[in-house]
Amino acid sequence: MEFREVIRRRRMVRHYRPDSVPSEVLERILAAALRAPSAGYAQGQHLVVVTDPARRLRIAELAGESEHVARGLEPWLSRAPVHLLLCCREEDYHERYRESDKVRPDGEERPWPVPYWYLDAGCTLMLILLAAVEEGLGAGFLGGHRLEGVGRLLGIPPEVQVLGLVTLGTPGRVRRTRSERRGPRPVTEILHRGRWNPPPAR
Ligand SMILES: Cc1cc2nc3c(=O)[nH]c(=O)nc-3n(C[C@H](O)[C@H](O)[C@H](O)COP(=O)(O)O)c2cc1C
Repeated sequence: MEFREVIRRRRMVRHYRPDSVPSEVLERILAAALRAPSAGYAQGQHLVVVTDPARRLRIAELAGESEHVARGLEPWLSRAPVHLLLCCREEDYHERYRESDKVRPDGEERPWPVPYWYLDAGCTLMLILLAAVEEGLGAGFLGGHRLEGVGRLLGIPPEVQVLGLVTLGTPGRVRRTRSERRGPRPVTEILHRGRWNPPPAR
């Protein structure tokens, strides 16, 4: 599939058919994820791969799936055959940036203009989402705000932050969420060519 077609087709998928994901397909998606860039090549992005049905069900329970179902939404997490927990370990960056080629001449770690560990995790996420489309699959992302208790369930150490959960599988029916029905923002509000666009006159 052409790269631009992969980009065009990518949508957050929250409903899956029961088909499992063949292990060689999953391995190709994981290999794509491992190609993500990272600041100083610190590689502080971590993934926990969960395919066991009972464990996926437990994750879905912890994320409060039953509340969504009670509100008339389709089960999302419990039906997705693969869960990838997207995590980052900030200390991987501090350790890397204290190495001789990165540390300041006075021996201090450089100040961080932004928390690069979150940027890098976003790069990993994007590669997974696109690699899934290339494999004819769909992927969705649930933010970490719903994942309390999942770290403990999976033995994720306390210094590792769980940023969210990527679901993978064969897409079922695509239903737009309320935020998606808002439609895209006017391009001139978000794409600034040459200099920041002034806000439109109201
Ligand atoms: C950082 C991040 C967090 C998100 N969290 C959630 C979430 O918790 N639940 C959800 O249904 N969608 C979540 N989404 C998906 C967005 O709602 C979705 O990407 C957006 O509406 C645009 O739709 P599209 O990705 O299908 O183009 C998240 C996306 C990102 C990038």
